[in-house]
Amino acid sequence: MMRSRVASLALAAGLLFSMCGVPAIAQTPTPPGGPGPQGQGPQPGPGGPGGMNQKPKNLKVLPQDMSREQVTAIMRGFTGALGVRCTHCHVGQEGSPQSMDYAADDKDEKLTAREMLKMVRTINTDYVRMASGGDAKADVRCETCHRGRTEPPQPLADILVETASTQGADAAIAKYTQMRSESLEAGQYDFRERTLVGAARRLQEQNASDEAVALLKASIELFPNSADVVASLGMVLLQRGDRGGAQAQFNRALQLDPKNAMAQQGLRRLQGGPAAPGGPPP
Ligand code: HEC
Ligand code: HEC
Repeated sequence: MMRSRVASLALAAGLLFSMCGVPAIAQTPTPPGGPGPQGQGPQPGPGGPGGMNQKPKNLKVLPQDMSREQVTAIMRGFTGALGVRCTHCHVGQEGSPQSMDYAADDKDEKLTAREMLKMVRTINTDYVRMASGGDAKADVRCETCHRGRTEPPQPLADILVETASTQGADAAIAKYTQMRSESLEAGQYDFRERTLVGAARRLQEQNASDEAVALLKASIELFPNSADVVASLGMVLLQRGDRGGAQAQFNRALQLDPKNAMAQQGLRRLQGGPAAPGGPPP
């Protein structure tokens, strides 16, 4: 690395701030490559509950000279990103500042969070910034994965495939409906019809064709105007050898959207034409 040590320190501090959702204002006034020892930001205000002017004494990843105030700002980012309180990672009693021992490393969650900090820093310095041209707004942050939960949410299609293969398509649709009513606003899952179509396609690939058909039929009720859902059902029926059923679904999809590519392709296949335009000659 050709970068000067001061510049990399500045970059590291900037990364640590940005990854926690804390605006990087503390860094911007410093000219690029400019000097100035790190951690000389705004001095902590007087005391405050929990002793704001007490210097952190057990920082192993964050810069050791960070003030208590700077560390606390990052910590608030952690609680928001994971949807937890300080006591999730630190020993002590919720609501009793005197009982908190922030320096102690007793909790596994704190140790995991430390590894996560290192991971996020590596992702950003070694990979993301290569692609983003150093744009801090593109950096990965705790929130990027965690979305307000201790366990980052799985893709919805994974959940639906898992539920459909173990408990059947009805259970998968029930799960979808329940999750949509509970967490639509949190924005953690993609509830659009493409997720249902993707899950059905994967079930079909896993030879769970009955579940794929049942999932798509239920999806049509949820998205009655989606040509893609109807055409996908046609494709699954075609693969099962139900040519009549497939043709009916392709026609229905074209009524909803005369330009629907999947339905057009399905009809071409039914007529014995090439599977895809430009494909190899039979
Ligand atoms: C997700 C886990 C997590 C949560 C939640 C969390 N912290 Fe931390 N905290 C850490 C980790 C990890 C460190 C050590 C960082 C390092 O080693 O560089 C730390 C260090 C600290 C320190 C420095 C202690 C010292 O003396 O070295 C303070 C102060 C602190 N946290 C306060 C808080 C406060 C206040 C909250 C709630 C607003 C909070 N933390 C929430 C993980 C967490
Ligand atoms: C690239 C995705 C990703 C990023 C970014 C990420 N995490 Fe995680 N984190 C995970 C995964 C995956 C798990 C394991 C969850 C599980 O147990 O299923 C996890 C687990 C954890 C846990 C333990 C779970 C628990 O019960 O408390 C903590 C604490 C944690 N992460 C903190 C953080 C913090 C703090 C950051 C930001 C510095 C962060 N993570 C950034 C993916 C990520």
